[in-house]
Amino acid sequence: MLKIVFIVVLAVVATQAQEHRCVAPTYFQARLLAYDHETGYYRDGRFSYDAASQRVRMIERVNENATRPQVDELFLHHENKAYRVDLKTRKCNVSTIDRPFRLVEVPEQSQYIGESSIGSLEVPGAGVLLSTWFHMTHDTEVVGNLTTSFTKEECIPYSETFHGYQVKSKQHLRFHRKFFDVTIGLDDPNTFDVPYECRGRI
Ligand SMILES: *[C@@H]1O[C@H](CO)[C@@H](O)[C@H](O)[C@H]1NC(C)=O
Ligand SMILES: *[C@@H]1O[C@H](CO)[C@@H](O)[C@H](O)[C@H]1NC(C)=O
Ligand SMILES: *[C@@H]1O[C@H](CO)[C@@H](O)[C@H](O)[C@H]1NC(C)=O
Repeated sequence: MLKIVFIVVLAVVATQAQEHRCVAPTYFQARLLAYDHETGYYRDGRFSYDAASQRVRMIERVNENATRPQVDELFLHHENKAYRVDLKTRKCNVSTIDRPFRLVEVPEQSQYIGESSIGSLEVPGAGVLLSTWFHMTHDTEVVGNLTTSFTKEECIPYSETFHGYQVKSKQHLRFHRKFFDVTIGLDDPNTFDVPYECRGRI
């Protein structure tokens, strides 16, 4: 009898553990592929993320045939400043940030959707298991639905899809982002330094 109780308890613990939202890294860097449906822009670059100090940087890969300016963007949310350098002209624009810092995380009150894999799980080492979550965002700034996937084992971010709008402006927000080659932590203490072209304009 005791054994049966024990097994039942184990099973419950296992189920809850599986659905417990995972904790994503506070600092990471990755190759980011992002598609913004509103602008039709497809972006590919080096992404750095610091949730503790609310800083992100995205340096796009330069493609000589790009049909729009490619940029190095730095968002310092604590200072409410955005720096954007055109990588061709090296001109810098400084502006304020019109939206709150968004964590790359499984938000509270997320609904667990389930598991899926990339690659194949039939051969050892050929695939990775992902956990997917759904969240209805409803704050004073943004309304919409976020679907996120993280690796099941280590909670490494993999993808984010968002459909919604900004409350005040009613502007649509739709994007899709994928993270590749993620490394935990930051490789360089200068990652979030204000770009050279923007100094003296702060
Ligand atoms: C840019 O376009 C030229 C001419 O079509 C092509 O030869 C070249 O490979 C392209 N470069 C890239 C990086 O796509
Ligand atoms: C900087 O601002 C100007 C004027 O609004 C704009 O034409 C230009 O594309 C901006 N550059 C960047 C890199 O955002
Ligand atoms: C979010 O999802 C809910 C439930 O599926 C749906 O009713 C709602 O219209 C969605 N909202 C947006 C902004 O897509």
